[in-house]
Amino acid sequence: MVGCSDDGPSIVVYNAQHEQLLEELAPAFTEETGIEVELRNGKDLELAAQLVAEGDASPADVFLTENSPAMSQVERAGLFESLPESAVSPIPAQYRPASGLWTGFVARSTVLVYNTDLVEESGLPASILDLADPEWAGRISFSPTGADFQAIVAAVLEIEGEEATRAWLAGLEANGTVYDGNNVVLEAVNAGESELGIIYHYYWYRDQQESGDVSDNSELYFFGDQDPGAFVSLSGAGVLASSDNQPEAARFVEFLTGETGQRALADSYALEYPLNQAAELAPPVRPFSELQPPAVDVSDLDGERVVELLTEVGFL
Ligand SMILES: [Fe+2]
Repeated sequence: MVGCSDDGPSIVVYNAQHEQLLEELAPAFTEETGIEVELRNGKDLELAAQLVAEGDASPADVFLTENSPAMSQVERAGLFESLPESAVSPIPAQYRPASGLWTGFVARSTVLVYNTDLVEESGLPASILDLADPEWAGRISFSPTGADFQAIVAAVLEIEGEEATRAWLAGLEANGTVYDGNNVVLEAVNAGESELGIIYHYYWYRDQQESGDVSDNSELYFFGDQDPGAFVSLSGAGVLASSDNQPEAARFVEFLTGETGQRALADSYALEYPLNQAAELAPPVRPFSELQPPAVDVSDLDGERVVELLTEVGFL
């Protein structure tokens, strides 16, 4: 590790998960194992593209994403090494690909945030697909430049197919206001600039826990019944085949999926869902077991196709 005075073991992590979360988890790993962690932070698709460009020459040992489409992209490029059973077995099989080349380590639920002065919960649609209807013109907002929204679109694409997804996106384009970032969507809804927004659950819960400044005029609405709008997105972790430190890199993934890492995750500021059943978020966050997500094979989410569709409709 550059600038590091001792010669102990260390790994380089390309991190596209929220920086603050890894800044909490990495020191706990170092304390437990003596392995230093160098975080290189970026966005899902940016770091995936960088890994593909670097290939065998990449300095990365581990790749962490906010959402799984970027993991699939790196998997398809053949850049991951198989994870040891000990790193994947704590995570239920539906939250990792059958290939064993990476694993989900934390989950986030798609939600609507709605301004309680402007909209009644009873008036909200049963499906996220309904937001493309003219009824919602000028009333909704979202952040299509972000990997979070793009993962939701990837789920819609997988469940509904390309034509339906294209039509849905055209409806959203006609109806919606675009903001850069889920926090900005949250603020816009809270301020009444927009009646509702498509975000992930933790943005609202975090603000509630911190101050309520940008969420007190709003509530969350969870889609149910396996609707595409109930999609649960996975943050992924994998070890690069090009890594010279594979045992240490695998140990890091094992830490993230194991009891210590997952409890640290559950106790952190993040309010994202742990996937190891040994850990659980405290109330008031809606329990993971009460979510009704659609069954989506994580290996089938096509982030690259989503970028093409979003570009076609003019969002990117
Ligand atoms: Fe996020």
